[in-house]
Amino acid sequence: MDDGARRRRPVVADVMSPPVTAQPDDSMAEVSVRMDKEGASCVVVVHHDAPLGILTERDIVRFVSSGADPAATASKRWMTEDPDTVAPTSEIGEVIARLAEHGYRHVPVVDDGRVVGVVSMADLMHIAQVQPMHHPGELEAPKGLAGVIVADTEIGDVRGQEGFYHYRQHDARELAERRSLEDVWFLLFFGSLPDPAERDSFAHLVRPLRTLPDAVRPLLPAIVDAGETFVPLEALRSAVSVTATALGFRPCLDISDEQLRDDAVRLCALLPTLIGALFRLRQGLEPLEPDPELSHAANYLWMVTGSVPDPDHARAIEQYLISTVDHGFNVSTFTARVITSTGADLGASVVGAIGALSGPLHGGAPSRALDMLEAIGEPEQAEAWIRDAVAGGGRIMGFGHRVYKTEDPRSALLRGLAERLGGDRAAFAVEVERTIVEVLAELKPGRELYANVEFYAGVVMERCGLPPEMFTPTFAASRVIGWCANILEQAADNRIIRPSARYVGPPPPEPVPWPPE
Ligand code: ACO
Repeated sequence: MDDGARRRRPVVADVMSPPVTAQPDDSMAEVSVRMDKEGASCVVVVHHDAPLGILTERDIVRFVSSGADPAATASKRWMTEDPDTVAPTSEIGEVIARLAEHGYRHVPVVDDGRVVGVVSMADLMHIAQVQPMHHPGELEAPKGLAGVIVADTEIGDVRGQEGFYHYRQHDARELAERRSLEDVWFLLFFGSLPDPAERDSFAHLVRPLRTLPDAVRPLLPAIVDAGETFVPLEALRSAVSVTATALGFRPCLDISDEQLRDDAVRLCALLPTLIGALFRLRQGLEPLEPDPELSHAANYLWMVTGSVPDPDHARAIEQYLISTVDHGFNVSTFTARVITSTGADLGASVVGAIGALSGPLHGGAPSRALDMLEAIGEPEQAEAWIRDAVAGGGRIMGFGHRVYKTEDPRSALLRGLAERLGGDRAAFAVEVERTIVEVLAELKPGRELYANVEFYAGVVMERCGLPPEMFTPTFAASRVIGWCANILEQAADNRIIRPSARYVGPPPPEPVPWPPE
């Protein structure tokens, strides 16, 4: 079935029955016998196939109670003359409305002046029930929900055409340049940047929360060794799930906003520790204890690499983390909000969000972007490599964005960081970026494809000592703050998120074969 046919609303031809007809001079006895034989509940009286009248079961009952002789009475005397008719192409909804208005139960279907069928209210109601109904007010959303506003938020926004995004009322790039990750975390959770006293008390609150719960510690080795290959985000997903259980997270529907925020602070503080512990266990190393003297970002680097980081690297990673804390209604954030809308616990929402982030079209691109730079090898090979990849139907990882149709401000920030940190890789990436943008503009005109956050993310993280498999988990270490801010906002003013879909499969109800073959 093509798309057009699938979307077509049902019409009378889809449900009408073949007509049972009579001639005007046929007797009522003949008509009754024919109706009974055919199992019909009406007969259309015709002249040369044109409808003259209709006789229904109701007319037969009225006739019998009159006491007249059936064999001697012509059908034309008891039929309803000039019946209302419908065309085979009439839409079901319109016909139902017409029958309901006039109180008819049956109506002849006429095409080009000839009776071609009969349709009853029962037939119509049957299909009306099983066909997708179009309810007043139901809206058609574009594929991928592009451009659809589904909530009000005070957390932040992305202005794709302007290449600008903000957290609460502040430019996110400016926050990355001027503030610590803890300040931005506070901003997202409490609505404003902290004053010095708030900064101190927030640091005192979160630093002890970085420590792994005792009940979780012994479970991590089994998670790490569960698969032949170690996929850190998959391991993280499982670790967050058991952590939520160990910490006794309860459905957000059953707890206060303050309790939910406590859960959120706890999980955000703990996520870098979980990531570091899983990674080190897989290397055959003991997880490291968090260092309360270090900032959130520096402590993260310490727990993964095992070295107290160079301050430039710690600051670069902190700026990367700030720049990726939140980004509008991206897929993982939306996922977290959908799960929260069911009243589930915060752990369930974060596990779902990690699952969404793991997809290469969302958060799984930075190591692929670095692989691409490896594969290109030399700047002069870039053009041919990109042309080949696009000709083969491939996507250039780290380029394109659903919302940005101009330069992604995060990629501009990260390019600056990469250049500041220096190294051959950064210089190469800058050169290749230029070529990719030019080639994509030629091969995909009008699509406005530019480097996204993931293109330079890998370059920056690699320079700061993070291995490629830790790129997306590092993204999760910051984005969990954004997810949690959204979870808190969703829970505070909740309505279950439950859209609709249009059924486009074969029309039901198809009888279930019995007995089974
Ligand atoms: N390379 C080549 N062509 C591309 C790319 C790309 N990276 N991105 C989009 N296009 C093309 C598509 O082929 C399509 O072309 P067509 O019109 O000829 O079919 C057109 O641009 C539009 O593509 P869509 O898939 O409709 O764009 P959408 O907005 O749905 O997708 C996405 C955005 C998923 C990010 C896409 O650009 C992509 O796949 N990029 C590569 C993966 C990537 O970098 N992911 C990380 C995103 S950033 C983040 O999530 C944190």
